[in-house]
Amino acid sequence: MDLQVAPRVPALLRPRWVWLMLLVAVAAAALMALPYVLLDAGSSRIAVDGGLHYGLLVAHIATATVALVLGPLQFVPAIRAQRRWHRRIGRAYLLAGVLPSALTAVPVALLSGRLVTQVGLVVPAVGWVLTAWLAVRAIRRGDVVGHRAWMTRNYALTFLAVTARILVPLVLLTMLATGAVARADAAATAASLIPVGQVMGWVVNLVVAEVLIRRVIGGSVRSRSRRPR
Ligand code: HEM
Repeated sequence: MDLQVAPRVPALLRPRWVWLMLLVAVAAAALMALPYVLLDAGSSRIAVDGGLHYGLLVAHIATATVALVLGPLQFVPAIRAQRRWHRRIGRAYLLAGVLPSALTAVPVALLSGRLVTQVGLVVPAVGWVLTAWLAVRAIRRGDVVGHRAWMTRNYALTFLAVTARILVPLVLLTMLATGAVARADAAATAASLIPVGQVMGWVVNLVVAEVLIRRVIGGSVRSRSRRPR
């Protein structure tokens, strides 16, 4: 595979957006993982049904943290230019992050006992593995453009955890501001919005990723094919 002849694709995100994404990812990962660091099931933010459920949840969170934090590094042009580092970080992102996190997310979703969570998080967990596989397959074939598009979709799924936790309070605040929910019902409404937020998180992220891919990667491929040979 000769990556020297790989097409030059413009950066998907401006550097300042990449650094902001990294900052948000590190802060969010720390906040999300904090209650689980001491391995005390009593501090879990979600109800857990025994040691196995808790163990799977902790394994999911630990590995998801790896993926969430390593992912943005792959969008930094200077790191991408260092092929060896790009490959190392990519392997760690997939093998110590996405794959184990997706595999543990499936039983954790099924054990939640909530249909919206079961369907709404098993689908992106499968999508997480599928987009990773398509990204690896693309690069093995020397298709750099396809690889970047699939990895962008993959990180959009990783970032669902952050978006979901931003959307839920936003929706709740909107409902309170418009009078759709009374202040007294805010806590109960927030709890009922969590599964909806989990689904909205990955749907919104995939839409944003697709817009970026079509604008930047699609545009550059179109303009190259129009260029006189
Ligand atoms: C495709 C990506 C992901 C899927 C499918 C997924 C799936 C799940 C599922 C099924 C649960 C249990 C939810 C419940 O029972 O209500 C969960 C909880 C959790 N996940 Fe993920 N997750 C993903 C990404 C991430 C990422 C990137 C992080 C970042 C560290 C993360 C952190 C957590 C945390 C902290 C919890 C426990 C709930 C809480 O304390 O708020 N997840 N996840």
